[in-house]
Amino acid sequence: MNYTYRTFKDEETKALARGLAATLRPGSVIALTGELGSGKTTFVQGFAQGLGVQSTVNSPTFVLIKRYPIPGKSSSFFFHLDCYRVRNPQAMVDIGALEIIHDPRAFVAIEWAEKIKAQLPSHTIWVQFYDEGEGRRTIEIAIPDPNDTN
Ligand SMILES: Nc1ncnc2c1ncn2[C@@H]1O[C@H](COP(=O)(O)OP(=O)(O)OP(=O)(O)O)[C@@H](O)[C@H]1O
Ligand SMILES: [Mg+2]
Repeated sequence: MNYTYRTFKDEETKALARGLAATLRPGSVIALTGELGSGKTTFVQGFAQGLGVQSTVNSPTFVLIKRYPIPGKSSSFFFHLDCYRVRNPQAMVDIGALEIIHDPRAFVAIEWAEKIKAQLPSHTIWVQFYDEGEGRRTIEIAIPDPNDTN
């Protein structure tokens, strides 16, 4: 199913992401695409809030992967990946991204995910951001049909 939203300030983008987080189970992978400054990290911050993550979430542009505990769920983690600086998908694989992406206990959000598209599972939820200026963003969320095996 594809859903299209329009937000007008960053707090609305966070609220949308909080709502999405509330519907998902561990093992979910969110792939975020869209130009620089279009709102991917802002969305991830709301997503983490929705999971109950307490720490401040900033983009892992240089470290590529950050892990956050989820209070009350000691076996589950939120992982934030950022492929902006990734030239070769193998770089992500080398630092353990595949194990994270396929961890059934993890919630995973990946910025610039198109760079590692071939590595992502078919149940990945794709979120595409369009910056329309003056705080306006169009956000398209594509949730794959669980019965669709590809
Ligand atoms: N409706 C909106 N939704 C999200 N962010 C918005 C919105 N309106 C304005 N902004 C601003 O746009 C910027 C979005 O930055 P953000 O870091 O989330 O983008 P990004 O897509 O992660 O960029 P990058 O590609 O550099 O990682 C923030 O400064 C935010 O406050
Ligand atoms: Mg970002």
